[in-house]
Amino acid sequence: MKHFTSIHDVADLKQLLKEAFEIKKNPYALEHLGKHKTACLLFFNSSLRTRLSTQKAAMNLGMNCIVFDINEEGWKIETEYGVIMDGDKAEHIKEAAGVIGRYADVIGIRSFASLKDKQKDYSEHVISQFIQYAGVPIFSMEAATGHPLQSFADVITIEEYKKKERPKVVLTWAPHPKALPQAVPNSFIEWTVAADYEVVVTHPKGYELDAKFMKGAKLEYNQQKAFEGADFIYAKNWSSYTEYGQILSKDRAWTVDSAKMALTNDAKFMHCLPVRRNMIVTDEVIDSPNSIVVQEAENRVYSAQTVIKKLLGQ
Ligand code: CP
Repeated sequence: MKHFTSIHDVADLKQLLKEAFEIKKNPYALEHLGKHKTACLLFFNSSLRTRLSTQKAAMNLGMNCIVFDINEEGWKIETEYGVIMDGDKAEHIKEAAGVIGRYADVIGIRSFASLKDKQKDYSEHVISQFIQYAGVPIFSMEAATGHPLQSFADVITIEEYKKKERPKVVLTWAPHPKALPQAVPNSFIEWTVAADYEVVVTHPKGYELDAKFMKGAKLEYNQQKAFEGADFIYAKNWSSYTEYGQILSKDRAWTVDSAKMALTNDAKFMHCLPVRRNMIVTDEVIDSPNSIVVQEAENRVYSAQTVIKKLLGQ
């Protein structure tokens, strides 16, 4: 694996899952692998899980780990070309990527969508420039259009809890007060389809995702119908892709509650976190024994550790 930005960097998902389960069983087995190697985790946006789990993953592999919150601690970065840099951005991404590549053996990047410029966001103009100029393996810690470490952890979790070979997995939109990117749903669909689950997506009209991420998934606008017989409910908000970055609804009729969960096949409840209680999901559901959100977050360590191991050439 050269870089890790989506499922398309994975040659064999079954094999990757097998390696993740081996790592989970014995997380320190490869602690010699990262000796004298450095991971740099670069954050353009906030994080709790990604920051801590990826740092722990690197440490489990015996690596040194530099965590850099670039907006708080670094120079502001210019990402465009041909601009006269007479504003508040003191450093260009081309030099920044090249320099960080001299300090690190692998670089993780978190750079969310702006939700202002669809073309720029969907070209992944930040992470792709790191790939172009850093000269070392790059992995996504959530970029503009995908969050593959999260989706890999989600699939690890589904594999652990599924009771049938091909579970019905429902991704449901749920309300949120702020405009959020489409990265998590985009990746979740790609990874769960690649894992050969029955994937159903439900959302209000106007929240259709980019068609290229919907391949292999079924769209059902009726949320209750979508929930029927589901083995896993994965809740997530996203802003509109077609009316880019807009909030079209905050309708709490879409909140995941116990009545809707009762329509399922005793489904497990999942969310990538952080989650807005009683907007996305009721207290009753997230506090129920069927909620596996913390177990899902734990698996972020093993998804990250497996990916970093692959990027180190193992
Ligand atoms: N799920 C996730 O990526 O969490 P953080 O934003 O806290 O890293």
